[in-house]
Amino acid sequence: MALITYIEPSGQSVSVEVADGWSLMQGATAGGVDGILGECGGSCACATCHCYVDPTRMAELPPPGESELAMLEAVAAERRPNSRLACQLKASAALAGLVLRLPDVQE
Ligand code: FES
Repeated sequence: MALITYIEPSGQSVSVEVADGWSLMQGATAGGVDGILGECGGSCACATCHCYVDPTRMAELPPPGESELAMLEAVAAERRPNSRLACQLKASAALAGLVLRLPDVQE
């Protein structure tokens, strides 16, 4: 279980307890977070779960795989060095307190 804080495009922050093994996209959609869609259900095929990870914690995350890197080319909002797809990040205690900022647009 990890408490993840999502900062919605409006600037409002929403914290959600995400179960171990759930993706951070699933946690956001289950928690009613605004600014994330997850249209493909987490199969790394839509790029509508784009998020900006707290830059100070980027090194703690597993690096993106080839399919995530390919989909990051297709994000609707600006791609930044801390851009990730939330469906490819799995919750675990190690990610407790992680902050994800959501972009203004997802498609
Ligand atoms: S939910 Fe579609 S790429 Fe993440």
